[in-house]
Amino acid sequence: MTEVPNPAQMTQDPVAGLEGVVAATTSLSDVDGQNGVLVLRGRTIEDLAGKVSFEDAVAHLWQGLGVAEARSVKYAFGEARIAAFAVVPLLESAPDSLSVYERMQLGLAALPLNRGLPEAIAIGGALPVFLAAAHRIASGTRSLAPDSTLPVATDLLRMLTGETPPEAHARALDRYLVTILDHGLNASTFTARVIGSTQSDMKQAVLGAMGALSGPLHGGAPGPVLDMIDAIGSPDNADDWITGALERKERLMGFGHRIYRTRDPRADVLKAGLKLLGPDNPKVKLAEEIELAALAALKRAKPYRPLDTNVEFYTAVLLDAIGIDRALFTPLFATGRTPGWCAHVLEQQQTGKLIRPASHYVGPMPSESEPLT
Ligand code: ACO
Repeated sequence: MTEVPNPAQMTQDPVAGLEGVVAATTSLSDVDGQNGVLVLRGRTIEDLAGKVSFEDAVAHLWQGLGVAEARSVKYAFGEARIAAFAVVPLLESAPDSLSVYERMQLGLAALPLNRGLPEAIAIGGALPVFLAAAHRIASGTRSLAPDSTLPVATDLLRMLTGETPPEAHARALDRYLVTILDHGLNASTFTARVIGSTQSDMKQAVLGAMGALSGPLHGGAPGPVLDMIDAIGSPDNADDWITGALERKERLMGFGHRIYRTRDPRADVLKAGLKLLGPDNPKVKLAEEIELAALAALKRAKPYRPLDTNVEFYTAVLLDAIGIDRALFTPLFATGRTPGWCAHVLEQQQTGKLIRPASHYVGPMPSESEPLT
């Protein structure tokens, strides 16, 4: 009998992760993994996050895509939040078993489009409303209507908690949303571009991208980062805990990256945001100690592979510091990344080209197969 390789067991399969493959031409963002530089349409992430609002960063990214030239993104997102709130009763009547993320996906699936708002605005504006409503449904409290006059970060915190957020918290969340707005051809953005390339609608592309984002190797990491910090508990335990995890061949969440061979610049942008929240948070100090221990342990365990801190580590610490429940970390990531996904879909659709790569067949040939009896 012919030995047939099983692709699932081919860990050395050179094409399995499409590593190094260039699969799109884009003006949206560039990730320089050697030097740790992230550029969004000509501006570094340090030049945007903490300096311009989420809405202005989105307007910057969307230039030339025909979405928001004529109107302010802040105003249009406000309108979109109001429109999306009409879908919230459906979310309230959905089964209790749905996670916050699944309820957001349900809301998106049910969101009426073609009501005068460009799809990217209708969808980008809706997700904060669905996130907040899904959280309040899960915690047994009444969903709150959006206030279209507020910036996205402020209104999202208000809809989550029912209170006007401290200015520092709104600024920290705004910085986070800008930091994660777009990031080259990551797994979820690639998914969005593939779906968009079939001329499917924007909703389907964002739903698919949300699916890709949710896994722990991508946008599902920050909740487990916080679990790790809590499990370690004190700097004295960090080394033993981390060494044990690496000996068990576990991955340390919040470390390592496909593209960066140095520090993910977004980690420092978020860490700078943490410093602005005040110097006295003991969990931030603990996280810094854990980070140092993890980097040293990773260097010992994998000397052949540069592994550094990625965006998810300080995402977890920052969002926790402003009181966000860890169950909302991935939903928030999707909320901030959605305008980036939409931009990529529009850019891909401008090419008019279907994404349809080839695969390398390693199964048996018909001449090798037994005749059917
Ligand atoms: N902890 C321990 N070891 C790691 C880690 C980690 N976080 N990341 C990579 N490695 C090791 C692997 O075990 C492997 O070692 P080996 O060659 O001895 O088997 C080597 O580094 C290469 O790993 P790959 O999986 O081939 O590298 P890849 O580029 O595909 O991985 C990834 C990138 C998936 C992000 C990885 O670093 C990881 O799993 N990190 C932890 C999860 C995480 O933080 N995800 C968020 C990423 S950022 C984002 O998506 C927004």
